[in-house]
Amino acid sequence: MLSHASLLPENKVIQAWYHDNNDTKPPTTPHRPFPDEPVSLAFLATMGVELTYMTLPPPNDVDLHMARLCEERQYKHHDQLTLSFETDEGGWLPRIYTEHMHPDEEIRYVLEGDAYMDVRDPDDRWIRFHLVPGVLLVVPAGLYHRFTLTTSNRLKVVRLFKNPGGWISIVRDAESDKAACHQAYLEAFRHKDATPKAARE
Ligand SMILES: [Fe+2]
Repeated sequence: MLSHASLLPENKVIQAWYHDNNDTKPPTTPHRPFPDEPVSLAFLATMGVELTYMTLPPPNDVDLHMARLCEERQYKHHDQLTLSFETDEGGWLPRIYTEHMHPDEEIRYVLEGDAYMDVRDPDDRWIRFHLVPGVLLVVPAGLYHRFTLTTSNRLKVVRLFKNPGGWISIVRDAESDKAACHQAYLEAFRHKDATPKAARE
């Protein structure tokens, strides 16, 4: 059994906060507002977003550990990506910073470097969180989100899939709210009585 926790090594915590929506700053900067508006992992959990720390395996054992994680969680496939703006020849990074969702969970495990993920809260505000090595992230199907590298410009990440053949992105537009996966998400998670305000208390 693999161990999971919300604490990073040295008792640091996985950080989440409301995005400042200041478009004059690059997406790769933290976008922390002043005063800060931290968000609890418990609140993210009510939105179906799972963020846990899992001890990094030795580099030679990553595949073995990911295979175990797949077995434990009934994921079917995993692969690895190394990302930087210089090597993004296919223009993938701008696309994943465009607001979108998927009909399946987005599952990522960070091996090296770091990144920011933004997700839409029930009031359609962006919540940002910091992905660092050892963090396992699950974004539920049908939740709008976007993803960027940080100013460190380096990320090595494992992608895990329940259905790699059916992996598609739905970009947010005037019609996308009607998508079955988004309606199912709202049905599953938006009946919860937690509010962003309660999450900060
Ligand atoms: Fe995505």
